[in-house]
Amino acid sequence: MIYLDNSATTKPDPSVLDTFNKVSMKFFGNPSSLHSLGAESERFFKKVRQQVAELLTCQEKEVVFTSGGTESNNLAIKGVANYYKKRGNHIITSEVEHPSVYEACKQLENSGFNVTYLPVNNKGIIELNELEQAITKETILVSIMHVNNEIGSIQPIEEIAKILKKHKSILFHTDAVQSFSKLKIPLKDVDLLSISGHKINGLKGTGFLYVKSGVQIDPLFSGGEQEFNLRSGTENLAGAASLARAMRLALNKLTRANQIDDLKQILIESLQNIEDVKITTPKESAPHIIHLSVPGIKPETMIHALAQRDIYVSTQSACSSKSADISRVLLACGYETEMAKSGIRVSLSYETTKEEIKVFIDVLQEEIEKIQEMLR
Ligand SMILES: Cc1ncc(COP(=O)(O)O)c(C=O)c1O
Repeated sequence: MIYLDNSATTKPDPSVLDTFNKVSMKFFGNPSSLHSLGAESERFFKKVRQQVAELLTCQEKEVVFTSGGTESNNLAIKGVANYYKKRGNHIITSEVEHPSVYEACKQLENSGFNVTYLPVNNKGIIELNELEQAITKETILVSIMHVNNEIGSIQPIEEIAKILKKHKSILFHTDAVQSFSKLKIPLKDVDLLSISGHKINGLKGTGFLYVKSGVQIDPLFSGGEQEFNLRSGTENLAGAASLARAMRLALNKLTRANQIDDLKQILIESLQNIEDVKITTPKESAPHIIHLSVPGIKPETMIHALAQRDIYVSTQSACSSKSADISRVLLACGYETEMAKSGIRVSLSYETTKEEIKVFIDVLQEEIEKIQEMLR
């Protein structure tokens, strides 16, 4: 098997699963229970939160465990919107956000918020002057992702933060789901930041939202007031411990990000030699995502043909690939509908090898020729 769909999800690291199993068995008591089993779980949970905070170099009370990227993004955006609605009703985001940000903003529009969806240039990046122009007295939140999940473009988070420093009442959220372990996390530049466990060899259903000390948000759920009353529900202690383990492993790999980038360059050079393949990933982008189009061939045809050969890639992002034919992200970058319909995403991991890239290229070329022959 050649797995090149790591931006959709990653294979859990065995030690992460081991942590989950051990903690599930050893600390099954509910941290809220008054008896000694509960107290033990509570003590252990504190330790886990401490570990995560140390890994991020933030305070323990700034870590809010969630079920993953979608929940973290919803909690950040709706949480800020609802808490600060008396201050203003304007939110700024971009046209290329993940659906968990984009649709959350659309939902807020239905309840009276105004949302500016900043356009992007042909590299998928917002223009800073357009951000500045979009800010009004009503603006309470800017949510701009770090790395785009379809084409890998990197937004200028530091520069956005510099602009927002001049507007003390605006909070800044970034979705760092695709960048964690591939780029340095811009924690110091933002007020809120989302992470998902299953993108970093952790487990599905794990993640957290970083909420900078002093920032207030309304919870999404009512209940037992766990997670500083920001995320009610019995704590997923084993999930949190497995996430801490996955984060530690992921951050240790960060120094090897060049290794993935080298593979990406090899892949891009080889793709450039295949007639009919158009590379849609911008030159300066995250090391692990390569987006390409084969106009005239439906991406699902290509994906199934590759899967038959035990090679796995994606169309668009996994979260939207079943519901939409046309990539909103590619359209926003100015690509024609034909190109926006035929996108294929190849996403690498620290485990991807040069040999796998070579096999992928050979098989891709063969399958393109076969499909074109059938279409003639
Ligand atoms: C950029 C980005 N944000 C958010 C998410 C959602 O994360 P999760 O699957 O953990 O809900 C994804 C998943 O594809 C993503 O790529």
